[in-house]
Amino acid sequence: MKKLLCLFLVLSCSVSSFVGATVQPSQWKVPAIYVFGDSTVDVGNNNYLTTTTAKANYPHYGIDFPHSTPTGRFSNGYNAIDFIASHMGFRRSPPPYLFLNDTNNHQIVKGLRGVNFASAGSGILDSTGTNIITTTKQVLYFEAFRSKMAAQPNADQVAMRLSKSLFLISSGGNDALAFATANKSPNNTAILLFYNNITSKYENHIKNLYGLGARYFAVINVPFIGCVPSARAQNSTGGCIDSMNQLAKGLNDAVAALLVKLSVALPGLEYSIGNSYEFLSTVISKPHLYGFEEVKSACCGSGKFNAESYCTPNATLCMKRSRYVFWDFLHPSQATSKLASALFYNGPAQFVGPITFKQLVKSAY
Ligand SMILES: *[C@@H]1O[C@H](CO)[C@@H](O)[C@H](O)[C@H]1NC(C)=O
Ligand SMILES: *[C@@H]1O[C@H](CO)[C@@H](O)[C@H](O)[C@H]1NC(C)=O
Ligand SMILES: *[C@@H]1O[C@H](CO)[C@@H](O)[C@H](O)[C@H]1NC(C)=O
Ligand SMILES: *[C@@H]1O[C@H](CO)[C@@H](O)[C@H](O)[C@H]1NC(C)=O
Repeated sequence: MKKLLCLFLVLSCSVSSFVGATVQPSQWKVPAIYVFGDSTVDVGNNNYLTTTTAKANYPHYGIDFPHSTPTGRFSNGYNAIDFIASHMGFRRSPPPYLFLNDTNNHQIVKGLRGVNFASAGSGILDSTGTNIITTTKQVLYFEAFRSKMAAQPNADQVAMRLSKSLFLISSGGNDALAFATANKSPNNTAILLFYNNITSKYENHIKNLYGLGARYFAVINVPFIGCVPSARAQNSTGGCIDSMNQLAKGLNDAVAALLVKLSVALPGLEYSIGNSYEFLSTVISKPHLYGFEEVKSACCGSGKFNAESYCTPNATLCMKRSRYVFWDFLHPSQATSKLASALFYNGPAQFVGPITFKQLVKSAY
């Protein structure tokens, strides 16, 4: 499990984004999307971090991205936030914050449609991940960006814009992985303490964003992490690691209860949870129904289940990339992200609730 953790933390992310868009700007439904979380939604922030190993800015990452560009996304192409932004009518998903900061000029203009603060390897807890941007820091970056917006001539519109924007958070998987690695057979007390730590920090992050003007939250929960290729590689029979799935399930239940509580306590707060756990477990149990052929091995990597290295230039690459649920040892393929995003956006209720992302976005108007 030690190895699994190292791999996981190394896994993070990407660059600027050209969304696989088919929707016109006239169909925009919210002014902007602000993105927080880990490698599942990082589009390039970690490219700017010199000391992190959690990077995906080299081949074969991005092989199916336009011009086969490795962007820092942990995918063969686009990731979930690209497809979600596309469903919402954006031509591109929001740029990485550190890219905006790097360019310096026109930062606000470029960030007007939103900013992506996500950093691969990060978690809800500050203790998760090394040399990455913690969620606490991501929120501070958002605060800094908001101050710059508020210093612009049209500052009076900032609060209104933010109150109609979507705040998407996809995190928690790295926390669960770190906990599972550090605690071989945790008792119930230790597990409950872990859940409490997560919900208390998650509550802080959401309250801080709410205090800064956020009202609409799209949360993507922790996937079926016991069945990712790097987990299977730890099981001598090649099965999933059941305890990791149970840990993720409990964590998701705790976060769902937290959101119910917060939506009552904080006037105007609305949310939707994309059920990544249910999505992945369903696809893995009935792959053919969803157009997949391979649910165990990663498309790109090396060793057992192609899960024992990153997707490096000399790694083994599968032929039918769109038929693999997993792109690398830990991350979904572009095909998987595309399907998940469509289900989170449109439903059915099995995969998203209490309302769909589409209904959440609509209720902003
Ligand atoms: C549960 O585990 C924790 C940490 O490993 C330990 O300190 C505690 O004594 C255990 N509690 C019980 C009831 O076994
Ligand atoms: C949870 O928080 C307590 C108190 O801060 C700490 O002692 C414990 O190590 C944390 N456990 C986990 C799994 O985060
Ligand atoms: C390993 O996989 C088998 C199914 O093939 C399962 O029964 C077993 O519980 C798994 N081991 C762990 C540690 O989860
Ligand atoms: C790729 O090459 C590097 C350096 O030569 C080596 O360390 C690594 O193990 C190789 N990876 C694979 C997947 O063969």
